[in-house]
Amino acid sequence: MTSSPEQKNMHGLRLFLRALRPYRKAIFIALFLLPFGLALQLLQPYLLKVALDAGIEKDSDLMLYIALLLVGTVFVQYGIESVHSYLLQKAGHQALTDVRSQIFRHIMAQRTGFFDRRPVGSLLSRVTSDTEAVGQTFALGLVSILGDFLLVVGTLVTMFVLHAKITAYLLLLGPMIYIVVRIFKRLLRSYADRIRKAVARVNSTLEENITGFKIVRLHRREATSRREYETLTENYYGLYYRFNIADATLFAIMESLAAITIGAILYFSTQPIISGAITIGLVVAFVDYAQRTFRPIKEMSGKLAGLQSGFAALDRMAGSLGYSETMPIAEEPWTNPKGALHFENVSFRYGETSPLVLRDVDLQIQPGEMIAVVGPTGSGKTTLVNLLTRHYKATSGRVLLDGLLIDGIDDTDLREGLGVIRQDVFLFEGTLYENIALGHADISRERVEQAVIELGLNTLLKTDGNLLDHQIEEGGRNLSAGEAQLITLARVFVRNPSIVLLDEATARIDSVTESVLATALDRLKRGRTVVAVAHRLSTVQSADRIVVMCDGQIEETGTHRDLVQQNGLYATLWEQRFDSGAPHKESLDSL
Ligand SMILES: Nc1ncnc2c1ncn2[C@@H]1O[C@H](COP(=O)(O)OP(=O)(O)O)[C@@H](O)[C@H]1O
Ligand SMILES: [Mg+2]
Repeated sequence: MTSSPEQKNMHGLRLFLRALRPYRKAIFIALFLLPFGLALQLLQPYLLKVALDAGIEKDSDLMLYIALLLVGTVFVQYGIESVHSYLLQKAGHQALTDVRSQIFRHIMAQRTGFFDRRPVGSLLSRVTSDTEAVGQTFALGLVSILGDFLLVVGTLVTMFVLHAKITAYLLLLGPMIYIVVRIFKRLLRSYADRIRKAVARVNSTLEENITGFKIVRLHRREATSRREYETLTENYYGLYYRFNIADATLFAIMESLAAITIGAILYFSTQPIISGAITIGLVVAFVDYAQRTFRPIKEMSGKLAGLQSGFAALDRMAGSLGYSETMPIAEEPWTNPKGALHFENVSFRYGETSPLVLRDVDLQIQPGEMIAVVGPTGSGKTTLVNLLTRHYKATSGRVLLDGLLIDGIDDTDLREGLGVIRQDVFLFEGTLYENIALGHADISRERVEQAVIELGLNTLLKTDGNLLDHQIEEGGRNLSAGEAQLITLARVFVRNPSIVLLDEATARIDSVTESVLATALDRLKRGRTVVAVAHRLSTVQSADRIVVMCDGQIEETGTHRDLVQQNGLYATLWEQRFDSGAPHKESLDSL
């Protein structure tokens, strides 16, 4: 799909307006207050003029009166501006929070394939830095640019009314200021961009080396890593240095321009003052006005750039919201699951142009049957499990659960009927109970406690207090591989599904845990249909049927004895296991 830049901008703008809509009342009030604040600001230099002129006339009463008025206007102005900015900030942040959760919900609703094709980093930045950039636009950008613009215009109009000729001369300086500021801001922005990229590189190198520090150390890569890091940080500081020089230069130029402007005001005023056409007060007021407009002019191009990047981020967000691979909503109830599985001529490829990784898989599994799936790495075992969990949809053929097409089954029913234990164990920071119940309110502490005992987790994990409150650290780093795996077993066990899918990885588990795990698995399998991608000898031998996968196809099926007798691929793999020495005696990982 191609769309012109304007069209894309419209998407972003629409997203922006839609998000602000619920808060329009606050925004309207803020916009309504804006001119009052500006008017008070414009009044102040004029009051100064009146006070000074009164001083020259030696009218002390008027001077005092004006002084009080001046203080009053400043107070009221800041009061109004505080309310104004509070309302806008609040509306902006609320809208931003809404957009953030909208994007998060959207991402979470996608099929697994959506994640395969996108780097995690870019998804994260959609939710974090992009929304941050948009936040600047929401909260401050637009309205503050509007306010600055009105202030500059208002000041010029006031000055023009007070003295047209001097104002006209001063206006000639305007384009010069604008051009200088623009050139420098462009330079600064390009440095800022490069600095941002350099920081990102520094951070990702840092992150890689810290998270992978064990590998770094094992391979004695410390020196290389350190050099890499130093080069990157030097590059960063070089850029930062140049940025600062440019920034300081711009500052100096702006200050000089302000001084030149004041000089110009004094110069152009000489004649009218002598002739009595204007008062000293007016000259002072002009200097004050000129100084007040300098800040907004200085900041204008930076704010416009911020606005630009805010809208670019909005477009990216609108783009990612528009792009969807959500699952169709399925509603067929799957009540009383019995656990019959049927792959009917199933073929599958991950991407539209990638090769088939499953080819014509035909497999019928009875309720309560225990199936072991074995085969070489890359033969499609995990993929088979992925189709059952509905992470992916079959490219052709049908997957049926209890005779129901898997695509049509209600999601909650599917998640309750299927229990999945995968190779990658994912643990959250929290208590043992939280890690097992996973936020399901209907899973009681008693239920979890019973599971922990039945699976033998209590014999491994030791803690002073209540075992259920045992604190698990981020990613489960305070647990052994076996303990972590047992927790995932418990997660499935407490939910009592009729089908259990296992993609086992047991190579890293020591023999003490291994025996606890084997008992736990036996306990879990009782009375359920089990499809186990098996590496463990005991799993394969205890299976009702073994399915041997090779190159995306089912090569053989049968019991251990049948298959050994058939003298096919399974028999070969089986013999290799006996030949290949001690480490493989207990596992079929070499398969
Ligand atoms: N997310 C994915 N995207 C693209 N290809 C994949 C993906 N996951 C696995 N594959 C490919 O599919 C094939 C089968 O993989 P898999 O089912 O994981 O094998 P096994 O579990 O038997 O080792 C492999 O060639 C693998 O490279
Ligand atoms: Mg696998």
